[in-house]
Amino acid sequence: MGRHTGAPRGGEPADECPGAVLERERWSRTRVGLGEPGVRFDWEAAFGRTARRVVDLGCGNGLYLIQSGYARPDTDHLGVELVPPAVRMGSLRAGQRGLTNVKFAWGDASDFICERVEPGSLDEAHLYHPQPYYDRAKILKRQLSPRTLLAIWLALRAGGLFVFQTDNPEYAHYAKENAGQLFEWRPRKGPWEDAPDGRTQRERVARFQGLEIFRVEAARLPLEEHEARRRVAGMMEPDFDANKKGFEGRSPRGGGSGRRGPRRRA
Ligand SMILES: C[S@@+](CC[C@H](N)C(=O)[O-])C[C@H]1O[C@@H](n2cnc3c(N)ncnc32)[C@H](O)[C@@H]1O
Repeated sequence: MGRHTGAPRGGEPADECPGAVLERERWSRTRVGLGEPGVRFDWEAAFGRTARRVVDLGCGNGLYLIQSGYARPDTDHLGVELVPPAVRMGSLRAGQRGLTNVKFAWGDASDFICERVEPGSLDEAHLYHPQPYYDRAKILKRQLSPRTLLAIWLALRAGGLFVFQTDNPEYAHYAKENAGQLFEWRPRKGPWEDAPDGRTQRERVARFQGLEIFRVEAARLPLEEHEARRRVAGMMEPDFDANKKGFEGRSPRGGGSGRRGPRRRA
């Protein structure tokens, strides 16, 4: 996986982007800053209107956002991504297509969802193919955790949607066991009519490699906040072993051969 812009490398499928590049006068501004730490992100200021809100947490090169931006002009889309070249590629492509309802911000999507979103203000939160981090030394970086799950639940409006996708079976299992306590779990089987090759670059690569895609479109459960917090307090931290069969032993810190049982939070 590693750090890259989302552009195809050898042996990867072409990353064709929906839509067409417009003449320069019609390009739009699609970069946005997240603002000061601890301050809520101002959607109205960023998009110049009040509309439905969709966020993509770790959006990579933004293929999903661009496709959905075309399909849903009534909806504002924000991608938050840690890797600057990916942000640049996504925003350049969206801008060259003149999209005004798709914006890209550089930053940590976990901090964003935990600290910068008004409770009950999002319509959808998407998390596509978060890095599994095979190296156990890096598992604290995993994007799905009790902390972020609670934050997503709090950020979504009543009935809002959490869309999660992965090609890692262990990640899929972790998501179901934990996110399933806050969201109505509705798994989906692809391929998708609107994007048979995949909605994101990583999905395209995974399909190309013949990997199974786990997707869930999960509606926020109508829980009292104290009940949501109680459930989160009992959730497992994401310290599952994400190693694929045959990968074990090659991980620098040793994915090891044993499957570690998940640790419960104290
Ligand atoms: C495997 S890629 C998937 C990218 C895209 N979602 C897709 O499906 O093609 C994982 C992405 O998540 C980004 N990422 C990882 N942790 C992040 C974080 N805390 N905040 C924002 N982006 C993050 C990585 O930089 C990378 O672009």
